[in-house]
Amino acid sequence: VEKVGVNAISFYYPKNVVDQSELERFDGVGEGKYTKGLGQIGMSFCADNEDVNSLALTATKRLLEDYQIDEKSIGCLVVGTETIIDKSKSVKTILMDLFPNNTDIEGCDVKNACFGGVQALFHAVDWIYANYELEQRNAIVVLTDIAIYEKGPARCTGGAGAIALLITPNAAIHFQRPRAIFAKNNWDFYKPIGHTSTEYPIVDGKISLGCYVEALNACYDTMKEKSKKLYKREIWLDDFSAVMLHCPFTKLVQKSVALLALNDAKQKHTNGDHTDYAGIDFSAKISVHDRETMTSLVKASGEIWKTKTDPFLVFNKNIGNMYTPSLFAQLIAYLGLRDQNNSDREKPEQLLFFAYGSGSISAMFAATLDRKNAALENMIKVSKESLENLTKRQVLTPQQFTDILEMRERFLHADAPKIPESLSKNGIDLAPQRAFYLDRVDAMSRRFYKSL
Ligand code: ACO
Repeated sequence: VEKVGVNAISFYYPKNVVDQSELERFDGVGEGKYTKGLGQIGMSFCADNEDVNSLALTATKRLLEDYQIDEKSIGCLVVGTETIIDKSKSVKTILMDLFPNNTDIEGCDVKNACFGGVQALFHAVDWIYANYELEQRNAIVVLTDIAIYEKGPARCTGGAGAIALLITPNAAIHFQRPRAIFAKNNWDFYKPIGHTSTEYPIVDGKISLGCYVEALNACYDTMKEKSKKLYKREIWLDDFSAVMLHCPFTKLVQKSVALLALNDAKQKHTNGDHTDYAGIDFSAKISVHDRETMTSLVKASGEIWKTKTDPFLVFNKNIGNMYTPSLFAQLIAYLGLRDQNNSDREKPEQLLFFAYGSGSISAMFAATLDRKNAALENMIKVSKESLENLTKRQVLTPQQFTDILEMRERFLHADAPKIPESLSKNGIDLAPQRAFYLDRVDAMSRRFYKSL
């Protein structure tokens, strides 16, 4: 068994979106804070008739249907999510409704903030290496989250979505070794029990940015060290067609790319190349909060940002932070846009990924895109459709967005049995399109879904 990775992909994001520049006016912050300062355009959100189960059901159903996957060909199904709607029952068990003739499917949910999806992917990849030869069956990974924050500076960094990935041997996008991990006990963002009367996390935004960047630098160092030690191979950003990073908001990713480029420059300096880089003293410790230094680093890495990262952040800019799906939304954009962006057809297409989950656990790993793999065509088609659908969403006002988050709060606190308020129409059409929705919660708090 070799070349295990992604051979089919599906993406669902909610149709409701709020414009970030309108939100700036509504929140009374300076014009440009969310759009230029954080780099965001729009934020998708769900009414009370969608939850992570319904999002995951939609993404998984589309994967099975769009690629005509036989449910019996699946031996492992792992879900990554941090949006807890049940302290015991996993989202995976809900998804089993889509596999009525196959109960022999390994896996359950994996949780650690935005990182759970990547650990779910690692489990699925490893499951294929361990079991495929014997069972000849594939795996599915589902990443599903709803990111919403209480009123305040973090609220504009929400989002929602679900992605499903089919994992097989000889895949169009196959993952390589090594994986570089950075895990540390941090309290940057968490959702403690006792705080469960709300869907919102406790977050220290400034600390979380520092934790993200510490993890990024450590993972890139480890990746370089391991590659050298295990494969006698140096790693540079230039080796990659795309550099994709977990994206809470795009400005952080731009600064992060600048720090990765600085790491390359530092290594070249150590190797004897003493060309000046952005006027930086390589021995100085650099903080992501140091505006002046970050501005020169961002400028120095402009070409890498423009060609390897920024084009593929189109979903992240327009949907917002989806938590677990945020990283792989960039892979979908890459597939949909690569014929426009990838001019160098001779170079192998290597992709670099960095995943970060507060708390915190993070990983860096690479993949190779196999241009000759027939599965690519279908994935590109689905990716292009996802890109087109961005413009077909329903734009709601910041007031409607705020009202809908309050509707979610009322629904959360209402006693069961209950039906979502958004189902009993109130002027706006909140019914999701070609998607599952939450139909009712019964007196025993069991959730029931229907699809449109
Ligand atoms: N025009 C242009 N830019 C502006 C304007 C304006 N009018 N006003 C502010 N800005 C810039 C700021 O200069 C700053 O950019 P800089 O740091 O590059 O200089 C940026 O906009 C943000 O402004 P801040 O004052 O730093 O914003 P604030 O502290 O209010 O909130 C934060 C930002 C901390 C990111 C908040 O939205 C948050 O807590 N988000 C959730 C946490 C998060 O996403 N963390 C990331 C990792 S963890 C995870 O993935 C959940």
